[in-house]
Amino acid sequence: MGSFPEEFVWGVSTSAYQIEGAAREDGRGESIWDTFSREEGRIAGGDTGDVACDHYHRYGRDIELLKQLGVDAYRFSISWPRVLPEGKGRVNRKGLDFYDRLVDGLLEAGVAPWVCLYHWDLPQALEDSGGWLDRDTAWYFADYAETVADSLGDRVDRFLLMNEPNVHALLGYLLGIHAPGRHSIGEFAAAAHHLNLATGLGYERLRHMGDWQLGTILNLEPVHAGREGDEHEEVSSLFDAFRNRVCLDPLLKGEYPAQLAPMLEAVVRDGDMQQIRREMDFLGLNLYGRSRVILDPGSLVGVRELGPPEGAQRTDMGWEVYPQAMYEQLLELRDKYGNPPVVITENGAAFEDRPDATGHVADTERTAYLAAYLEQVARAREAGADVRGYFAWSLLDNFEWAEGYGKRFGLVRVDFETQERIPKASFHWYRETIARNEPVAGSRG
Ligand code: FCB
Repeated sequence: MGSFPEEFVWGVSTSAYQIEGAAREDGRGESIWDTFSREEGRIAGGDTGDVACDHYHRYGRDIELLKQLGVDAYRFSISWPRVLPEGKGRVNRKGLDFYDRLVDGLLEAGVAPWVCLYHWDLPQALEDSGGWLDRDTAWYFADYAETVADSLGDRVDRFLLMNEPNVHALLGYLLGIHAPGRHSIGEFAAAAHHLNLATGLGYERLRHMGDWQLGTILNLEPVHAGREGDEHEEVSSLFDAFRNRVCLDPLLKGEYPAQLAPMLEAVVRDGDMQQIRREMDFLGLNLYGRSRVILDPGSLVGVRELGPPEGAQRTDMGWEVYPQAMYEQLLELRDKYGNPPVVITENGAAFEDRPDATGHVADTERTAYLAAYLEQVARAREAGADVRGYFAWSLLDNFEWAEGYGKRFGLVRVDFETQERIPKASFHWYRETIARNEPVAGSRG
């Protein structure tokens, strides 16, 4: 197994709506996920993020867990409607106070706060006036970013502008399975472009305010043709444009993939691409697997996802365990995008955990997953990919969006009845890996 240099950053990630709860407390406004999760049939089991992991009240315990784990850094997100209940204008001091307490607690524990400004929970008030379909939202985002940086920036030195705008646009505006539940190609194009624009505007605002390390996060994965033949190769490139390059190319190359240009014509204005193309201090990469696709004229945009091949190992999400995806993606960034500094800001797996009578979970599959993907990170580094850190998803079992609480990604088990936290075997494995700067073999069950 490869080892990692001393300065390699080890961390874990979470996001506001998935863990905080306290949905109606201390003046928090509504987000699109509050609305969406209350709609009939949207979320498995009718779950909502109203209580989630109750992190808003139990953050002290969660900081203890981070300390025990020995991570260098903790990536979390700020809830925009907690800070600006109407999305713009009036600041909710009590909301900012929560993040103040969290940041202070992390620093005291010796854990660096990595603050992500947007993880999908748009204020409902902004959605009501058009949300990401409206250009103005990009400027409201920059204002909000400034408010947060102004309040936390004296103690935080890393800001991440956005989490996975590509997935947000795809699932929320094209496939309609995430908030705000829209599905049209035109809305997808508008949302993706305005999210890209917001990232650029937010970056510019923060760059001029302070001396922080700035990055943004994309979810990328290699796209493979699921059958032989030119027609399948062709649609895999189209799918790659929709899935990955819709945000990656504008950010790093200043242009949209040619296949998407026609649908973007109506929304891209002069000067936008200059705002969007940025040399960030680092790119956050969230990676879970790969896509396999074939031509299918009957499907949306003529492409169908096949899912894992027969016999492949799957996680509880149905996603294929395919560690080589990590290596392939990192090499693609090296070869086609100028080898930007990368931090893996999410990687992990949901498995059906079976706690014993004491609540302990011997999650050997999760440990094996993490070890296998980390090995590919080490391989890519040896091949010259500029990877500087790795954050596991996630610290805690949490609200997994449309899947509700049924899919567990945590290194720590959460009993959602009692809110008890119990570190799983993978937590202990990760702690040892961090301590040695090297994935340790096996697990202690
Ligand atoms: C990512 C999301 C994160 C979590 C994982 C499993 O796409 O950023 O919130 O849901 O998937």
